[in-house]
Amino acid sequence: MNYPDVMEKLVSLCKRRGYIFQSSEIYGGTGSVWDYGPLGVELKKNIKDRWWNAMVRSRDNVEGLDAAILMHPRVWEASGHVAGFVDPLVDCKTCKGRFRADKLEDAHCLRKPSKRPGEFSECQLTEPRQFNLMFKTFMGAVEESAATIYLRPETAQGIFVNFLNVQQSMRQKVPFGIAQIGKAFRNEITPGNFIFRTREFEQMEMQFFVEPEKAAEWFGYWKEQRMEWHRALGLTESRLQFHQHSPEELAHYAKAAFDVEFDFGGTLGFQEIEGIHNRGDFDLAQHTEFSGRKLEYFDQPNNRRYTPWVVETSVGADRVTLAVLVNAYREESVPGEEEGRVVLGLDPALAPVKAAIFPLTKKDGQPAMAHTIAADLRRQFPVDYDESGSIGKRYRRQDEIGTPFCVTVDGESASDNSVTIRDRDTLAQDRVSTTEVARYLRDKLSP
Ligand code: GAP
Repeated sequence: MNYPDVMEKLVSLCKRRGYIFQSSEIYGGTGSVWDYGPLGVELKKNIKDRWWNAMVRSRDNVEGLDAAILMHPRVWEASGHVAGFVDPLVDCKTCKGRFRADKLEDAHCLRKPSKRPGEFSECQLTEPRQFNLMFKTFMGAVEESAATIYLRPETAQGIFVNFLNVQQSMRQKVPFGIAQIGKAFRNEITPGNFIFRTREFEQMEMQFFVEPEKAAEWFGYWKEQRMEWHRALGLTESRLQFHQHSPEELAHYAKAAFDVEFDFGGTLGFQEIEGIHNRGDFDLAQHTEFSGRKLEYFDQPNNRRYTPWVVETSVGADRVTLAVLVNAYREESVPGEEEGRVVLGLDPALAPVKAAIFPLTKKDGQPAMAHTIAADLRRQFPVDYDESGSIGKRYRRQDEIGTPFCVTVDGESASDNSVTIRDRDTLAQDRVSTTEVARYLRDKLSP
């Protein structure tokens, strides 16, 4: 199926409705860095909570961690990032553009009309040179004498260096995992596509430590578990697929890898949202060598000491947020109305606002009754109160931000203590007693 390209419309909706803003916009913006507004932060938090519950809280063999972003510089030598986390970069001396030498066919020249770099006769591309994607900074008061450190390009290394701390303090036995959610930074040469590829982003990573002989089996298990998680978010089945890495595509640490890909529509099409990797003993062995601390596991019953292998699941919180938004966006006509509507058909459990409460008019005590219902519901869910504009306009505003239910106090409410509850997707309206509204919503919102 050919899904439409909705990216431009989504960027505009996200700004207009408080989901996502360009960073430092009043200064002209920062390249490929985005700020989450009031609704965006709720949506992303709901996605992160979903992951944390699925990966940590519901399992007794996975522990949580929140490691620091700044780490000892030797970590990045051991991990291979200082030497190997590079992309080939070419500059164009004419348009001053910078491009990934291995992705020229997807790149656009900065001149108008835009072509591929190298396609104008005036293009002057330099020879490719290796560009390290890690951001460097200094730790210490005086720049010259301070140590060079890096902003972490993945959260995983914080887990590897804490392998023994977590295993011993929590008395875990192999197989077990460590999971964390946190910021990562990459000085991408060609960021873009809104929050798809940015220079600051959030990862949700889990390293599962296993016996070497059982790594392939656990790799298969986690591959299926992770695809199931994406389906449960409401991502359309036909928009999800696996992509197996060929030997040339494998990262320096990986023995085998599958990406979960989502079809973003238009020319972007299927793109990676998560990587599942069999990392072998690469990381623990490297840190053992570089730190001098033996990162091993002693299997007492079998009297065997070994370096565990690692199966990693690594998903970008921002990429999943984008996939959820793209998947949810739709435009449709409304029977009996000239203007159509834009709807974010988000899974109710992920929606930032669960219900909007309206008085139909500003008369007959309707606003006071609606305020009382809103205040009561707010103790349980994020809700919105709105009395401005026509009821049709208020419905459209809520449809556009993905609010699954609208509760309206009308002319009958005062006499029979009831309200209407409108379903965003079916447009059906139920008449519900005011004492039952919270229970009605709770039932509909449980995942
Ligand atoms: N620890 C393994 C690792 O970092 P990766 O495939 O480089 O593997 C994992 O990244 C996930 O992180 C990707 O699937 C993607 O969702 C997210 N990610 C990576 N680079 C990103 C970027 N520049 N912007 C947004 N998300 C990114």
